[in-house]
Amino acid sequence: MQTITLTDTENKSKIIICNPQFWTYNSGIMGYFRENIEKMAGYEPGFQPTEADVVKLNTNENPYPPSLKVTEAIQKMTSQQLRRYPQPMGDSFRDAAAKILGVKPENIICTNGGDDLLNIAIRAFCDKKRAVAFPTPTYSLYPVLAQIQNCPFIEIPFDEEFNLPAKLASTGAALTIVCNPNAPSGTLVPKDELIQLATELKGKGVLLIDEAYVDFAENNCLELTKKFDNVIVLRSMSKGYSLAGMRFGFGIANKELIKGLLKVKDSYNVNAVSITAATAAIEDQQYFKNNIKKIKIDRKILAEALAKLDFEVLPSEANFLLAKPAKMRAIDIYEKLKEQNIYVRYWAYQDIKDKLRITVGTSQQNQALITALKEILAEG
Ligand SMILES: Cc1ncc(COP(=O)(O)O)c(C=O)c1O
Repeated sequence: MQTITLTDTENKSKIIICNPQFWTYNSGIMGYFRENIEKMAGYEPGFQPTEADVVKLNTNENPYPPSLKVTEAIQKMTSQQLRRYPQPMGDSFRDAAAKILGVKPENIICTNGGDDLLNIAIRAFCDKKRAVAFPTPTYSLYPVLAQIQNCPFIEIPFDEEFNLPAKLASTGAALTIVCNPNAPSGTLVPKDELIQLATELKGKGVLLIDEAYVDFAENNCLELTKKFDNVIVLRSMSKGYSLAGMRFGFGIANKELIKGLLKVKDSYNVNAVSITAATAAIEDQQYFKNNIKKIKIDRKILAEALAKLDFEVLPSEANFLLAKPAKMRAIDIYEKLKEQNIYVRYWAYQDIKDKLRITVGTSQQNQALITALKEILAEG
């Protein structure tokens, strides 16, 4: 993709502005699609193996099953609930989540996974003249959604320690997205810095804090949705609550922002089964908290084991680790693990191609990974 790169010599940082007119063409142009759709490559989801007996540490699922209350609630559903359209706003979930989070149901929008909220937000706030901005490297869906919406996207690189770039406050973007904890780094930006950013953006643009992984972090930014009229917090039921297959996420914000987002969503964007499942899952806080505790303990053990194998591991507040091998190329390790049915995530992107992103699995899965890595590194 062709881009404009502005280099700020004083701060030695780059801002990359990707305007639709500079997007390059893919092969296979048909001429039927809107120009921006012809030009874009599309999102590439992580590999989903069909076999059950693999060690799957590549797409940040929770290694534990959903609460038994979820399966019970689904089993109790009637065929009538499938025959009829679902609650348009997912009210059962809104009520349950509002109680747990200490907000009002009108502060919540239910979405078909967190991805649906990102899509709704970009459609609601951005167009050819209204950009979306985000620090990079981050969730690779953001630029894809911008390309679909045909809006410019502004990428501001994180520094080596993944500190929040100060320039994010002055991009002029209609929507700024900060993924916190960030994917794929797992790093967490302190709340104070996001309060500062929201303050600077107030009256100029919306700040969406993507907290898909926040269940595994020590801190979150929920309180900002009460203090600011320009902050949306994204949450996902895929990670902490083990419901990736169900597809359920939600946004929390000031009620006027929620009203606007509701105008943009599909009329029935969450289905009857997923509303039932997500409601049962969020109501079982004890099961949720137990799983989070186990994953945090295993995250520490896995990070230490990787460090012993000379991987450089960033401090993570998510359910995955970004690890840079010292002795072999990341891609070679990735391929060799795959041969043993152990899947981790590798991207050939410039800024992370020397690293692997590894989801924290069960203790046994993590151990299987470490054993395989020892062999691979010993063979070289
Ligand atoms: C950073 C980030 N945000 C949002 C999502 C969306 O999650 P989901 O649509 O499964 O709720 C993901 C999924 O992997 C993610 O990594």
